[in-house]
Amino acid sequence: MIDYHVIGDGNVQEREYQEEMQAANLKMEALTKSGAVITEETVTVLTDAGALASGKKIFIKNCAACHGQNGEGLVGPNFTDDYWINGGGIKNIYHTISEGVPAKGMISWKSQLSPDQIQEVGSYILSLKGTNPPNQKGPEGAKWVSSEKEDTGGNAEMSDKGIGPVKEVTLGEIDPALVKKGEKEFVAKCSACHKIKKRFVGPALGGVTERRSPEWIMNMILNPDQMIKENPIAKQLLMEYLAPMANQNLTQDEARSILEYFRTQTENK
Ligand code: HEC
Ligand code: HEC
Repeated sequence: MIDYHVIGDGNVQEREYQEEMQAANLKMEALTKSGAVITEETVTVLTDAGALASGKKIFIKNCAACHGQNGEGLVGPNFTDDYWINGGGIKNIYHTISEGVPAKGMISWKSQLSPDQIQEVGSYILSLKGTNPPNQKGPEGAKWVSSEKEDTGGNAEMSDKGIGPVKEVTLGEIDPALVKKGEKEFVAKCSACHKIKKRFVGPALGGVTERRSPEWIMNMILNPDQMIKENPIAKQLLMEYLAPMANQNLTQDEARSILEYFRTQTENK
């Protein structure tokens, strides 16, 4: 500091400010690492009555105008069903509340609510699931299949690679020739049970590349018997669909072509 004064540097205040900011950032980083500050990576669901009551207060004051007094949905989506546009589970919900989806009319709340408050209101929203209020808005987005990892591992579903021969898939630009081949395979070997846009014997597969990793999808195609026995997501799908996904004895190349086709089918409505 002293030499700035001595040489008459006019930016002393500016420098001091920057040093303070740097120190504050370092402190914040340390707190975040130690888990003392909630972030989208460390947030967990609160279930105690006090936190939920406080979440409800925040909700009624700030959110009910667009999401309904009971979370039944109005301008914004319904929180009482299983469908989420931006992903369910506390981590995705924390992210959406914090950052907003400005282009779609959901504002960012991080400048108005503290991390603790976002955690409380997010937990309250999750507590509304299945409450079946009147005047519910229809489902929007994709059905969120929760796994045990949901609240401890970030986007657990997209990081689950499944079980089977495929360990790592690198996706480049979409290859139109491969898409064509994949579409043919899909029509011949999968369409008896799957449609792109609607549920059939198995799930609608439009948008599947947005909810599952490429490796998971290929392993589900190549190794379904083991997947539905051992992989948590596949096990849960089996419970829901009751019929098992069939092994169509595809080669890895054929499965890869279907994956490429799925990459072009992201609209599921
Ligand atoms: C001005 C209207 C408005 C207000 C106020 C508002 N929201 Fe939203 N919210 C929306 C809209 C519209 C969407 C749909 C965004 C999209 O399509 O991705 C949304 C989406 C969401 C989602 C994601 C839903 C999904 O299916 O992915 C969450 C979570 C959410 N809002 C929480 C809140 C919370 C918590 C508050 C209050 C602190 C709040 N919102 C206030 C309009 C609003
Ligand atoms: C005999 C019916 C049947 C056939 C044929 C079939 N599937 Fe499935 N598939 C299912 C069912 C049912 C499920 C849901 C999981 C379960 O119940 O095992 C499923 C699940 C899936 C999933 C996971 C979907 C999700 O939402 O995560 C993918 C991906 C998939 N199938 C792809 C394919 C592909 C690609 C083919 C063709 C090579 C195919 N399936 C052929 C019945 C079938």
